[in-house]
Amino acid sequence: MGQFPTNLAVAIDWLASFGKEPDGGITRTLYSQPWKEAQSALKGWMEEAGLLTNYDSIGNLFGRLTSPNHNAKTILIGSHVDTVKSGGRYDGAYGIIAGIMALDFLKKKYGQPAINLEVVSFCEEEGSRFPLALWGSGMMTGIYSFNDIVDIKDSEGISFETAMMAAGFGSPEYRVRKDIQTFIELHIEQGPTLEKVEKSIGIVKAIVGQKRFRITVKGESNHVGTTSMKWRRDALHGAVNMIHDLYESVKEYDEDLVTSVGQLFLEPNVPNVIPNHVQFTVDARHPNEYVLRSFCQKFTQMFQDHAKKLDLAIQVEMWHEVLPAQMDNGLNEIIQSICTRSTISCHWMNSGAGHDAQLFARVCPTTILFVPSQGGISHSPLEYTSTKDLETGLEILIQLLHQLAY
Ligand code: HGY
Ligand code: MN
Ligand code: MN
Repeated sequence: MGQFPTNLAVAIDWLASFGKEPDGGITRTLYSQPWKEAQSALKGWMEEAGLLTNYDSIGNLFGRLTSPNHNAKTILIGSHVDTVKSGGRYDGAYGIIAGIMALDFLKKKYGQPAINLEVVSFCEEEGSRFPLALWGSGMMTGIYSFNDIVDIKDSEGISFETAMMAAGFGSPEYRVRKDIQTFIELHIEQGPTLEKVEKSIGIVKAIVGQKRFRITVKGESNHVGTTSMKWRRDALHGAVNMIHDLYESVKEYDEDLVTSVGQLFLEPNVPNVIPNHVQFTVDARHPNEYVLRSFCQKFTQMFQDHAKKLDLAIQVEMWHEVLPAQMDNGLNEIIQSICTRSTISCHWMNSGAGHDAQLFARVCPTTILFVPSQGGISHSPLEYTSTKDLETGLEILIQLLHQLAY
């Protein structure tokens, strides 16, 4: 037996070893060293499983189980290999691992499929290194192009293109795949619903839309002790008023609207100096694009009003927007029938997290299915899903692919 994993739990720990942090979290950001090592290890495992492997020109990794029928289309499965900073070991990784194990099992038990089966390890989905998310699926679906990475830099000032070329990717043209007929993603729920309703499989009807913003507030740094309150242009005072009202205004909407300020930078960040520069992020989500748009317009106006009151300058930049996406009901009905036949409990639900399936839904029949997250925790070293739940998800994926491709 080679150095590759033979069961799901071992595979999860094996992949988690690439980018492991002292706090137990995983940091595997796009084109980083842990990212390169993880993709290379996954390529080796795919090859050991007898899959044909290749990278595309931006670093998406593929493992293919080919059909003898040369005109056959392809059913794509998989998820993203990148993580948030100090994230969990299941987000994205589980979908790739389960995909490799499913194709390995199907190949051994049933041989070549009538329709090509391919597992993808998307290069990037999170947007955690560069201010651009869903890079791997965005390029595969033709929704993105190389124009979308111009002038993008990470927090260390390294440009997207420099990082991509240094990792050995980035040829000028990108060949959008036209043979993908279906995309299926297996993923942890990243929320508490399945655990609360005590169901094993989440059948996702729709994925929420999301908008991510960078807000820059500029005032004037000055001496904390000698500057009267009425003469200050305190950038943090303005930002705090904006953020407070952001969380207050959510209460005027239905409970499907969610928002958070996840990142905040402050300058000069010195106790006895009035802050002159604050940058913070807003991530807002809702299943209905009109409600989401109305909320974002409302808080943008409110931020500008607060800036005016304190004589501050403000810049509101939206750097990521993805529309809500409906999953394919036909595929979901098949999943429902497999769960019923196998007496596996399932629950129809929406996804509050964004996923690569959100973009594929615009180009082909697509769905995503969930397994429970313990305590609903994700994007954290405490992210956990039991081996039994992981195996149930794999079992459904295998049955679904057998029904679709053989
Ligand atoms: O942030 C998200 O929704 C996803 O986990 N990238
Ligand atoms: Mn994530
Ligand atoms: Mn994910």
